[in-house]
Amino acid sequence: MIARIQELLEEVEHLQASNAEEVEALRIKYLSKKGCINALMADFRNVPADQKKEVGMKINELKDKAQQKIAALKEAAETKDSTADDLDLTRTPYPIALGTRHPLTIVKNEIVDIFSRLGFTLAEGPEVEDDWHVYSSMNFADDHPARDMQDTFFIEAHPDIVLRSHTSSVQARVMERMQPPIRVICPGRVYRNEAISARAHCFFHQVEGLYIDKNVSFTDLKQVLLLFAQEMFGKGTQIRLRPSYFPFTEPSAEMDISCNICGGKGCSFCKHTGWVEILGCGMVDPAVLEANGIDSKTYTGYAFGMGIERITNLKYQVKDLRMFSENDTRFLEEFQAAN
Ligand code: PHE
Repeated sequence: MIARIQELLEEVEHLQASNAEEVEALRIKYLSKKGCINALMADFRNVPADQKKEVGMKINELKDKAQQKIAALKEAAETKDSTADDLDLTRTPYPIALGTRHPLTIVKNEIVDIFSRLGFTLAEGPEVEDDWHVYSSMNFADDHPARDMQDTFFIEAHPDIVLRSHTSSVQARVMERMQPPIRVICPGRVYRNEAISARAHCFFHQVEGLYIDKNVSFTDLKQVLLLFAQEMFGKGTQIRLRPSYFPFTEPSAEMDISCNICGGKGCSFCKHTGWVEILGCGMVDPAVLEANGIDSKTYTGYAFGMGIERITNLKYQVKDLRMFSENDTRFLEEFQAAN
């Protein structure tokens, strides 16, 4: 019997299997109820008493070895099986997947490009700003609701420091260090304390424009915005201005474009009005010029501001704002061609 066990020990040592089925066959042969090790155990009662100890130990050794070996073969077969299908050695390593520009960057670049052809230069500023540049210099009254906790993210230990809620703060920074003529375009990220949903987010992106010189008029503003709308949404695009209110412009207006989805005929996107709102604008309030060190008797100016997400939605009909910040490559790759 000892000889038979020894023989099996050798055999187990050299077991091989190339897949999970072969491993299972080995398990049945050695370790199952009807397997050969169990058969040895059944014979154990016929072993003479004085040999029982030695034989018993040997059988146990054999059983341990067989279990270990078969477990190792099983693991090897499983890892091999799972990679075997994925591994295609004939596949070339090219083309390497290239990243794509983010849709908001594509649209921002397009907006900046249109205005730079009209002589606007780029200006940028900090996202963490002080109250002066975001609100006070922009003619917000001390008790204006936009300063309220609901809209603005304050830095806890410094109530004077906020996450900017619009890029008008960049205009303030430009005005304080430059005298007219000023013609700048200010793109950037802004923050507002809003519940995140398909239609609102706690951060989004804006592009604001500012032009200050002698004799700048509302007609100039309207002409520039018409040109922008037609460059962005097509030559046939029409605009209309509706009176509105902003603390930093007077008069103020909101601009609609003829719905680029139905061409102005009326559809569910434009709520059957034929028009969709795209930006706010107006003549810079003289109080803002004065607060920023510019003589309001000599100079006038206009300003406008738009949300990049809004323009992107109009161009690409992205239904859910959250898509812009989820970094799902299936979404981002759709903009490959627009690069
Ligand atoms: N700052 C305004 C906003 O965030 C946009 C705007 C800019 C409106 C310039 C008019 C002129 O809503």
